[in-house]
Amino acid sequence: MQYQVVSDSATQVQTGCIVVTLDQSGKLSDAAQAINSATGGFLQARIDAKDIKGNVGDTLLLLGVSGISAERVLLVGTGKDEISAFNAGKIVTAIASGIAKIPGTVAVSIADLASECMPEAWWAEQMMLALHSAQYRFTATKPAKEEPSKAEKLIWIGSDVGAALERGDAIGMGTDYAKDLGNMPPNICTPTYLAEQAEAIAADGSMTCKVYDEKELEAMGAGSFYSVSKGSSEPGKIIILQYLGAADKNAAPHMLVGKGITFDTGGISLKPGPKMDEMKYDMCGAASVLGTMKTIQALKPAINVVAIVTSAENMPSGHASKPGDVVTSLSGLTIEILNTDAEGRLVLCDALTLGIRDYQPASVVDIATLTGACMAALGKVNSGLFTTDEGLATELMTASGYSRDRIWRLPLEEDYQAGLDSNFADIANIGGPLAGATTAACFLSRFTEGTRWAHLDIAGPAWGGDGTTKNSTGRPVPLLSTYLLNKES
Ligand code: BES
Ligand code: MN
Ligand code: ZN
Repeated sequence: MQYQVVSDSATQVQTGCIVVTLDQSGKLSDAAQAINSATGGFLQARIDAKDIKGNVGDTLLLLGVSGISAERVLLVGTGKDEISAFNAGKIVTAIASGIAKIPGTVAVSIADLASECMPEAWWAEQMMLALHSAQYRFTATKPAKEEPSKAEKLIWIGSDVGAALERGDAIGMGTDYAKDLGNMPPNICTPTYLAEQAEAIAADGSMTCKVYDEKELEAMGAGSFYSVSKGSSEPGKIIILQYLGAADKNAAPHMLVGKGITFDTGGISLKPGPKMDEMKYDMCGAASVLGTMKTIQALKPAINVVAIVTSAENMPSGHASKPGDVVTSLSGLTIEILNTDAEGRLVLCDALTLGIRDYQPASVVDIATLTGACMAALGKVNSGLFTTDEGLATELMTASGYSRDRIWRLPLEEDYQAGLDSNFADIANIGGPLAGATTAACFLSRFTEGTRWAHLDIAGPAWGGDGTTKNSTGRPVPLLSTYLLNKES
């Protein structure tokens, strides 16, 4: 999306559509008032006729306006004076859906909504993100019958928030990319496909890509990863992207590790049939990691980042793991596989060991559609955050608040660890029937000792959430991007 910042008055901007606001009492913003005067009271007449009230997210598109340079006016309601972050989201979403299909340029005059906790740059970034979201279509396997008309350039009327627009555009692009990967059918989006995607990202030389294939991983001793990938004829991969943007290329990197199960049947512990198609989304952690690297590539922050995707297909077959199998992980810990459907932690633990061993990261965040239990607890609104590192928790909560990509902290206390005791191995791959999201996090914690680490369970927010369950959200690319970009300053 192109963008431009101008300080012209709302009446003079040459654009396909100018967006201005009114509040719940029907009071026009200064910019809206200026347009109202220039058009001989066109806006006020519509308000008097009760065509729009001014409640949060109300919109009215006015055509045939004369006396101003814009071809159309979109009036948007902002509700009461104090705008909450929730209502701010409703406002930018309403604006974006109102202007997404207007061909050419669109201009927004909403800088006056800025407040201390939601400054103008924040609104600009959010506006850009909302526009990306409103214009997103998945066309890879179902092309649009005709090319829809589309706004191509966003004009921001206000102060110089070009950097925020650039940031919103980059995060929006990374989110769109993650959505595409998530939505891609599982016969196309295989571990090999994800490796090709990572290689394509690195092709411009801005980062390097290394791919470990299944046979190398088996030989290396990554028996936990291999216990999952061996059940499928699609070869599993661990994929590593390294971006060195810091002045000191040897500075310890920040690491992201994404679960990339490109289809989760459950394996021999087979899942029930209904909605099993949604298990193509079990690679959304990986998608969010690659999407975040696209954003990083576009913005080139002065930080070092290592992104790891741990990818396999979880299938039942003559080669698949059986409940009761004991395998040895890369760390040396033995694992009793009591349920082959708890495969995410099995591919993640070896990726954590490999990443921590080879890159000595300053911090690690893993992202995974790990447990139905986390979705039961938090729904599709919040991702679950698990960490014992208070500093990392604060960084992630701060990034979550700013990006509106929400997370909620759940417990990760010693008391829960005993649930993973096994009679036949160092650790079992499932705990009891209770606190399933926490016991999954406890399992991962055994492979991160000594490293600053947090786990995000995105089982709820990764897809669905808009009433339909068949769409990838690209989350938590906004959260991860914001978290990493905050490290620069
Ligand atoms: N990918 C699933 C988790 C999942 C299920 C995410 C439904 C979103 C919606 C994961 O691999 C899984 O199957 N987890 C099991 C763990 C259990 C066997 C301990 C689960 O949550 O049922
Ligand atoms: Mn599973
Ligand atoms: Zn899974």
